[in-house]
Amino acid sequence: MFAEIADRYDRMNHLLSMQVDRYWRWRTTRIVRPRSDAPILDVCTGTGDLAFAFHRASKGETPIIATDFCPEMLEFGERKKAKRKIGDTIEFREADAQDLPFDDNRFQIVCVAFGLRNVADTDQGLREMTRVCQPGGRVAVLEFSMPRWQPMKAFYGFYFRYILPRIGRLLARNRNDAYNYLPESVGEFPSGSELCERMRQAGLASAKYKPLTFGIATLYIGQK
Ligand SMILES: C[S@@+](CC[C@H](N)C(=O)[O-])C[C@H]1O[C@@H](n2cnc3c(N)ncnc32)[C@H](O)[C@@H]1O
Repeated sequence: MFAEIADRYDRMNHLLSMQVDRYWRWRTTRIVRPRSDAPILDVCTGTGDLAFAFHRASKGETPIIATDFCPEMLEFGERKKAKRKIGDTIEFREADAQDLPFDDNRFQIVCVAFGLRNVADTDQGLREMTRVCQPGGRVAVLEFSMPRWQPMKAFYGFYFRYILPRIGRLLARNRNDAYNYLPESVGEFPSGSELCERMRQAGLASAKYKPLTFGIATLYIGQK
């Protein structure tokens, strides 16, 4: 599915979120501030937007590895890297989030944006992210969620279920799946304290969450 929409993915993201997705990634780098002395891993990186946000936040001083199992998405990440003349600070690599090709305890931050929901085995993804995180390091999960506050809940529920899939289908010229799948998968995915509990079960010492933009997205932060 992602291979099919890779060339339109960024445009669609910014359009359908009215650019707010950029703000969520920036905010993630403000809340989970990077240091310069150890690398960062961004899994399910897609075209690399969270990796680029961390690159900016660390002023290009921190090595970042950005992984995804979809080569078509990574190719667009590579193109953006070349265009921005970033050099080798960001390394794109093909890898399944459920079986990361890295040693234990390597990264200061292991993050994922709008990707964990897509990983077939959520708990295995969380266990792998935790395994490669340094003791004392942080695991950050940015994910869509459903707002709890009415009337935002009603407005957003309508937009998400009826408007967004139609615009998505029209503009992405994708078979029906990609933008029908989005509301369905968000509705089914654990959120709030439920996901925090799954993060603790994956081996993190603590986990908390912060709703962003009326709870349309949520940032989960765990410490190993
Ligand atoms: C919605 S995109 C998110 C991309 C990016 N992180 C962002 O913020 O826009 C989800 C990505 O997760 C990737 N993905 C899904 N399951 C995966 C897995 N098991 N291992 C690695 N990547 C995976 C897909 O290929 C896709 O690029």
